Amino acid sequence: MTSTVVVGGFFGDEGKGKIISYLAIKDNPKIIVRGGAGPNAGHTIRDGDKVYKVRMLPSGFLNKNSKVMIGPGVVINPDVLKNEIKDFGADGRSFIDKHCGIIEETHLMKDSKGDLKEKIGSTGSGTGPANADRAMRTLKLAKDFDSLSSIVVDVPQEINSALAAKEKVLVEGTQGTFLSLWHGTYPFVTSKDVTASGICADVGLGPTKVDDVIVVFKSYVTRVGTGPLAKELSAEEAQEKGWSEFGTVTGRQRRAADFDFDLARRAIMLNGATQIAITKLDVLFPDCAGKSSFDELSEDAKSFIQNIESQLSLPVTVIGTGPAVNDVIDRRS
Ligand code: IMP
Ligand code: MG
Repeated sequence: MTSTVVVGGFFGDEGKGKIISYLAIKDNPKIIVRGGAGPNAGHTIRDGDKVYKVRMLPSGFLNKNSKVMIGPGVVINPDVLKNEIKDFGADGRSFIDKHCGIIEETHLMKDSKGDLKEKIGSTGSGTGPANADRAMRTLKLAKDFDSLSSIVVDVPQEINSALAAKEKVLVEGTQGTFLSLWHGTYPFVTSKDVTASGICADVGLGPTKVDDVIVVFKSYVTRVGTGPLAKELSAEEAQEKGWSEFGTVTGRQRRAADFDFDLARRAIMLNGATQIAITKLDVLFPDCAGKSSFDELSEDAKSFIQNIESQLSLPVTVIGTGPAVNDVIDRRS
């Protein structure tokens, strides 16, 4: 049994997409399966000079040997999904579960106005309204659409069979711990639980079948949309530090703060994390850009990582040092 679950430890946009695409290539899992809310997620993946912005497909699609799947807990926008399968060359190896919920025009409309848009700052992707209809038992599912039948499989069965056959499965979370409907900064959260337990439920993986949970933290904290952000920097301060970022899905400017140990500690607890991945170390320490071994890091960068390990009592096993898939220090044994 070798299942690894990767989740975000802050407010999404920790750089999970990059870490997952690295693990997908390095570990060569049989299946990469996505949980999480829906096409409100956005991952940016850089492969050579190609940049992919992914909202529906698992970020591990770069490994052409792996099957990519979306679990029954996720709501799907069929147009976005079909375009990504075509544009990213993932035809024939991309699958969804028959119980994936389907976003329709009415959901997009409800998400583009009123409190969801203005107060919560939703992504406008229809994800929240579709999940509301799912709770009302009125949402249509993938099995109700003939046009999707060629990509529908039994995702929980596929992943559990793969694990029983000692194959690797990489489980991909979306959003981040403090956007969880249960554990986040309610009401400024997404429409699902997105901690490791929720992600596992989304794909049909029971708690005793999880080997490792990697929680991904960025070297600083960002948040897009409204809601509390402790010790938030001004836009100018963020700019000065090189931390101004813009959302993958919405293009909105992300708010920023220093690495937050209190949030990180709680994220580790809520996710039952066994390992930490740190991304964008090169943004804090430009001299670390593109490094692939810990020994090559500057003393300041090494202390930053060592301080995280000692304060959080978990190993930092994967470190992102640049935007390319292979800009990674991999310290897993
Ligand atoms: P919704 O999930 O579109 O309903 O948006 C609710 C809140 O979660 C808003 O503040 C969004 O900006 C935020 N959010 C949802 N998905 C993501 C994500 O993948 N990354 C960052 N923020 C997200
Ligand atoms: Mg994102």
